[in-house]
Amino acid sequence: MRRAQIVGTGSAVPGKVLTNFQLEKIVDTSDEWIRVRTGIRRRHIAEEGTTSATLAADAARKAMDDAGITPQEVDLILVATVTPDMAFPSTACLVQEMIGAINASAMDMSVGCSGFIYGLATADSFIFSSKYENILVIGVEILSRITDWTDRNTCVLFGDGAGAVVVRANNNGNKGIISTYTKSDGSLGKLLMLPGGGSKHPTSYQTVAQKMHYIKMQGHDLFKPAILSMVEATSYILEKSGLTSRDIDLLIPHQANIRIVEAVAKKLRVPMEKVYVNLDEYGNTSAASIPIALDEARRKGLIKTGDLVMMVAFGAGLTWGSVLVRF
Ligand code: ACO
Repeated sequence: MRRAQIVGTGSAVPGKVLTNFQLEKIVDTSDEWIRVRTGIRRRHIAEEGTTSATLAADAARKAMDDAGITPQEVDLILVATVTPDMAFPSTACLVQEMIGAINASAMDMSVGCSGFIYGLATADSFIFSSKYENILVIGVEILSRITDWTDRNTCVLFGDGAGAVVVRANNNGNKGIISTYTKSDGSLGKLLMLPGGGSKHPTSYQTVAQKMHYIKMQGHDLFKPAILSMVEATSYILEKSGLTSRDIDLLIPHQANIRIVEAVAKKLRVPMEKVYVNLDEYGNTSAASIPIALDEARRKGLIKTGDLVMMVAFGAGLTWGSVLVRF
């Protein structure tokens, strides 16, 4: 059976670190509140001059090196981001030029924190239909540039980074993506948005004065939907594949909040030893969180040949989804 196999991973995270203690000096918060309520200790912040495209290109080069392919072999570049370098051209096209993938098509996907999952699901379909052989799927965010650093409800949560994978057609064997699931509920979109700068509220003095170019989030109202949707997405795939949560070797959930991660694991009956968590170091990097975690887990030797890895995310839209992969 033809499958989409993940044959290379890479990530790029800015060197500059912002700790909870440093945040205490910026807004009315405390290291204890942030740690207890979210699990986050630090986040990485892009330096001036770094853009989503440059971070994405760094991660993509590492993933291509890992996969042993040249940029010319890439057929499609999918970049999941809510922080593109600019409205257009797409960040994917900017990355194409930076890495020299002259034979590729390129496009961005705006799916919030679920972007990488939607990217993998899209790559899976393009490969399954024999349209493409090698696809770069990248999740990248520079959320620090759309964060209101006076709003303690949001500024303690987010960070910057990029992760990438090379997905290649595998015509023999059982390695690769086994199943994908994606779902949206636009009626809850108002819980998490960046209202300014689009056709509804074009950039003006007013939109800037009203801070409409920053993340607006009703975090408390997102908490339950985040847990329920990630449990739904994981359960759906397991059932469809004739598997149970005991078959999962590693669960890589979107890294938004340790309490959400623990609640999802508990409901699925997956022990925390099988759950990859790095949100203490990076915070919520939206579309980049799962590919960064996947790359780290592989490099730490936590994913062996034959392992079943479940990735699951939830984010703006609202959107959610999951991907089950045999490595
Ligand atoms: N420091 C200190 N106090 C704070 C802070 C802070 N940084 N932030 C909020 N508080 C206060 C609030 O003002 C509130 O005070 P009050 O009781 O006097 O009114 C109190 O803490 C509790 O606030 P809640 O919002 O109820 O806190 P909660 O336990 O729900 O935690 C959080 C908030 C961390 C945002 C949590 O709700 C969460 O993680 N939600 C989900 C976020 C998410 O998953 N987003 C989707 C993905 S992101 C994406 O797609 C880009």
